[in-house]
Amino acid sequence: MLQFPKDFLWGAATSAPQSEGAASKDGKSPTTWDKWFEMEPELFYDQVGPENTSNVYALYKEEVANMKAMKLNSYRTSIAWARLLPDGKTLNPKAVTFYRSYFQELVANGIEPIINLFHFDMPWWLMEKGGWEVRESTDHFANYASVAFEQFGDIVKKWVTFNEPLVHIECGYYGDAHWPKVRDFKRALQVGYHTMLAHAKAVEAFRLSRYNDGKIGIILNLSPVYPKSDSQEDVEAAKWADHIYIRSFLDCAVKGYFSEEFVQKLKASDLSPETNEGDKTIFKNNTVDFIGCNYYQPLRVQAVSEEKKVETINGPHDLFQGYDWPQKRVNPHRGWEIYPRGIYDIAMRLKNDYEEIPWYISENGMGVSQEESFEDADGIIQDDYRITFIQDHLEELHRAISEGANCFGYHLWTFSDCWSWLNAFKNRYGFYRVDLANDYKRTPKKSSFWMSEVIERNGFEK
Ligand code: BG6
Repeated sequence: MLQFPKDFLWGAATSAPQSEGAASKDGKSPTTWDKWFEMEPELFYDQVGPENTSNVYALYKEEVANMKAMKLNSYRTSIAWARLLPDGKTLNPKAVTFYRSYFQELVANGIEPIINLFHFDMPWWLMEKGGWEVRESTDHFANYASVAFEQFGDIVKKWVTFNEPLVHIECGYYGDAHWPKVRDFKRALQVGYHTMLAHAKAVEAFRLSRYNDGKIGIILNLSPVYPKSDSQEDVEAAKWADHIYIRSFLDCAVKGYFSEEFVQKLKASDLSPETNEGDKTIFKNNTVDFIGCNYYQPLRVQAVSEEKKVETINGPHDLFQGYDWPQKRVNPHRGWEIYPRGIYDIAMRLKNDYEEIPWYISENGMGVSQEESFEDADGIIQDDYRITFIQDHLEELHRAISEGANCFGYHLWTFSDCWSWLNAFKNRYGFYRVDLANDYKRTPKKSSFWMSEVIERNGFEK
């Protein structure tokens, strides 16, 4: 029997833009997702946009009742900035009523809310000013954070500033999966710098708020980096990948500074972001209480080939390149490697290099397409693959905890199937099936019954 620590948080996660729906209702202003869908609906799977996510705005009471039935003791979602402060300044009373009622419903049912402030959903009014590229965004965010703490801090005791800041930076400024889909490493670094500054300013606002008896953290996608081989070149490549993908966020959030080696590396290539005097103090004074770790897959890298080596760098591709490990186990629906051991490795890293900071698995999960084909005669999806996936990851997590990892919970992505950005409802991740053709009807999957037993016993038989 693998037994988890007392008071372990068992739950699931989603975000406002992926679950609420009602994207243009009750005073919410548009985000980049709403506008982008208006401009290029054909880019979204089956042309399903952010208006039609899993309708939690209307169904939250039923959703919470299902969570209770499954015995969850915690749940993470986010507040939509554009719903709470549609123009960045004016409080929307309908948003306050909705979120207060939603969060109270969770608490009343014994489910601790963990509330995030930004999950890729940049308000359009701020995007028009330049989004995270402009320094003023950091003060707008800090103001929004203060309003959220003031309005909901009596109910919410665990806060998160950002979900996976790497993703809106990389996909929006070094790729094309997020708006504004530009490809410019220098701009990406400025966006990253402002994001982390906005984060630190929000932590500061929390400490100064009336309800500062709770805890505040940040959620990072911590994919451990593995070099192709032990050669000096591959190990060096992995070091830089780790600097970019992990340390630039984790060092800053937990230790309050960026690694000098990385700062110098950027400087040598004229890539340093613009900073102000005084920023270092803001970072130093506003470190987090906990980390949320989203873990899906590792990052495998190798050195760039000899002929591609350059003196000054233009992007991550000048420091390392991806490596396809031939033995990898893959989720064919999403194309992501399945490597449970990664959870153990990242847990040990947090224990050994980050002062045993408390942390939890804030996302882990498996997206599967055409899941209806796994339905049995009673209409229950037999998602044994998901049960195996969770169990394999929990075994590694348990091993890490028994070796001293300071982990306080495990959340699956997600509770009810939700909308996944450009992929919309292509891949389903939930404990509950959502039937889009039938008024968003929820049906528990086999994994929800399995997980419910795990929660009840606070562990499982190996
Ligand atoms: C995480 C994000 O990266 O992965 C979620 O926090 C996202 O927003 C989840 O939905 C699953 O990824 P995807 O791209 O399949 O939706």
